[in-house]
Amino acid sequence: AFTPRVFSGIQPSGNLHLGNYLGALKRFADAQEQGIESIYCMVDLHAITVWQDPADLARATRELCAGFIAAGVDPEKSILFNQSQVPEHTQMAWIFNCVARMGWMQRMTQFKDKAGKNAQNASLGLFAYPALMAADILVYHATHVPVGEDQKQHLELTRDIATKFNHDYGVDFFPITEPVIEGAATRVMSFRDGTKKMSKSDPSDMSRINLTDDADAIAKKIRKAKTDPDPLPDSLEGLQDRPEAMNLVNIYAALADLTPEQVIAEHAGQQFGTFKPSLADLAVAKLSPISTEMSRLMQDQGEIDRILGRGAERAREIATPILQKTYDIVGM
Ligand code: ADP
Ligand code: NA
Repeated sequence: AFTPRVFSGIQPSGNLHLGNYLGALKRFADAQEQGIESIYCMVDLHAITVWQDPADLARATRELCAGFIAAGVDPEKSILFNQSQVPEHTQMAWIFNCVARMGWMQRMTQFKDKAGKNAQNASLGLFAYPALMAADILVYHATHVPVGEDQKQHLELTRDIATKFNHDYGVDFFPITEPVIEGAATRVMSFRDGTKKMSKSDPSDMSRINLTDDADAIAKKIRKAKTDPDPLPDSLEGLQDRPEAMNLVNIYAALADLTPEQVIAEHAGQQFGTFKPSLADLAVAKLSPISTEMSRLMQDQGEIDRILGRGAERAREIATPILQKTYDIVGM
């Protein structure tokens, strides 16, 4: 039996947005109350599988750490650190490169999506990325990983690697990590196109709320969010074919800690001319303390670096013996 332990990584590769907050950071802060040991990693080694400007990478790594803390993740309760500061990740990744099969990696749809048509010019790191992700998780014997839809296949691969390692070496050493399925209302969609995820890679800044946006920018983006001309229905079924309206209701619910049903019950029959300002007020009330705290933290980079440094030490206390034992098992 393995002690319950949660691991999650986020790439420091750009602006944090409302989707990252509601789909990841806020959930992590809420989960903290359950008292399960949680390890959160700024995965800079994953970020460089595609080109990153060095100064931008350094800044985004600190900003991501600031985002975690501003969203309510307590660096004393959880372990917050930077992947490249814990060399056991890459050491374990090499072992897993030798466990994973080429055929498994070639089936990864995210590589195909990210590499695009010019796969011959993609980095070897982008191809091997899922084995490093398996190492991120298994070097802590993490039993649970919160995953979005786009990471499910990679977690499957992590389970396959653990299973094959255990089988090949005749041990019961690595846990078979379980996904923590995200509840409803956590997939935040673009304000420009209700069928696409809100994402930092969307070229339109109006498509998302960045956690660094001020109150005016937040209100403007919500006011201009694409919607249809109908008022809000009186039940959730009435939102079935209205992705943009559904998205705004889901965002309201997630920010207010309500269910979408409760939001509909409260706002049934409202026009967007009324609902959007309510949502904007709510979003500003919930998000501006976060953006204020992020910029306060970013004023003191030494403090962020100390938090990340301390987190890396705590991470290594767990990872070092697990890597050592792995080497023993392998015969090294
Ligand atoms: P992006 O999609 O902007 O590139 P990442 O892939 O780095 O963001 O995601 C970091 C975390 O934020 C992951 O846990 C992911 O599931 C979550 N996340 C990202 N975008 C959204 C979204 N639109 N809705 C909900 N969660 C999201
Ligand atoms: Na993504």
